[in-house]
Parts: sequence; structure tokens; C-alpha cells
Amino acid sequence: MELCVALDLPTKEENLDLINKIKEHDIWLKVGLRSYIRDGEEFLMDIKKINPDFKIFLDLKLYDIPNTMADAAESIMGLGVDMFNVHASAGKRAMQEVMSRLQKYENRPIVLAVTALTSFSEEEFVEIYESPIAQKADQFAKDAHESGLDGVVCSAYESASIKKITDKNFMTLTPGIRPFGEDAGDQQRVADVAYAKSANVDFIVVGRPIYNSQNPSEVVKKILEQF
Ligand code: C5P
Repeated sequence: MELCVALDLPTKEENLDLINKIKEHDIWLKVGLRSYIRDGEEFLMDIKKINPDFKIFLDLKLYDIPNTMADAAESIMGLGVDMFNVHASAGKRAMQEVMSRLQKYENRPIVLAVTALTSFSEEEFVEIYESPIAQKADQFAKDAHESGLDGVVCSAYESASIKKITDKNFMTLTPGIRPFGEDAGDQQRVADVAYAKSANVDFIVVGRPIYNSQNPSEVVKKILEQF
């Protein structure tokens, strides 16, 4: 299992300060919409300057028509990130187009599909997708697997079932992790590290429990000890 730290702080300086505090650990860093829209490619270069070995997950959750998604995926290739994601609900044709466009690159990043956002309650999800979360997450994961993606973003509670119906090597990345039962915030389906481990999750994403702590390095250390 790998730990991916979400860099969701209000300014680039605060994000870089956080990275400096936790740089000695073997971790992935997640650059999401807020940071990327505000700080762009320069932020990715600043991260690499701190440590060129940091692995970066660009969490932009692409959702558009197939050609636009594939164009965006090719542009992401030029950024040198190690992982990015798309929405499975964009459909199989869009996911296939993304993967086929990336075929020509030797070192393409890991590509994941978002199944159901971990902030959705069952009720909210059904209102939009007209299907229970577990059922639809399985279907989205199957679609992503059949489209040649490397894995999915899902809640820790869906990870085991998704691996069963796809492939045990099909990766799962789970946000909504509250390592030691911290406050859930806007997340609905939270799990702790022990649960994620038992569900064979490949990557856990942790944001607020790390960056809101007085001692982020200590929290990271404690999480990694549980692996
Ligand atoms: O602060 P917290 O640990 O809840 O952060 C979770 C991170 O994972 C946020 O950056 C959020 O955008 C992201 N994320 C999520 N649910 C998904 C996909 C990504 O919470 N399905």
C-alpha cells in the first residue's frame, strides 16, 4: 500500500511548506483541482525541485467528450506526472479513446477512473445515478477495466468487491481515509488505515488529517507504520 498526501491548502507556499515538513517519507503527492488551477505546471516543477523522486498524482478527474478527454490526457503526458484520473461515468468510449491515445508513449502514467465520489451519501448517489453505490461502483470499475485503465478511485468499502470482479492487480485508490478515526468533514464513507489494508487497497489518499495536524510528519510516520 502507498500513502498519497492531498495538497489541498489555500496557497502554494503552504503546500510547499507542508511538503518540506514531510519530505523524508516515501510518499506520493496529490495535486488536485484547487492547486493545479491556481499554481499550474510551475507547482509540479517546484515539487520536483524539493525531491525529484516524489511521485505525483494529478487529480483532475477528467469528464468530457472522448476526443477532448484524449487531448487532455496527451497534454498531461507532457507534465511528467505519475498518475492521473478520469470519471468512469464519461463512458467506455471516452476511456478507450484516452488509453488508445496514450498507447504510443513508452512511459505513460497510471490511469485511474473515479467510480463514486466518497462524499456521496447513498441517497444523494441514487438521486443522480438511479442505482445503489455498490452496484454502480462495480459496474464503473468493470467498464474501466474493460477499457484498459489501470484501476479506479473508490471508497475503501468497494475495493475488495471491485478486485474480485475485475482482477486482483487492478488498482484501487481510496480517499475518505481517516487514519485513526479523525473528523470526517464532508466525506461520507470514511475508513481507517487498518480497514483499507484489509481491503487490499493500493493507495490511500489522506488530506485534512495530515495538513491540519500540528505535526504532519508524525501523522505520516504513524500511518506508514501501520502499513
Ligand atoms: O481531506 P481529505 O482526506 O478528505 O481529502 C481527500 C482528497 O481526495 C481531496 O483532495 C478530494 O478532492 C479527493 N477525492 C475524494 N473523493 C474522490 C476522489 C478524490 O475525496 N472520489
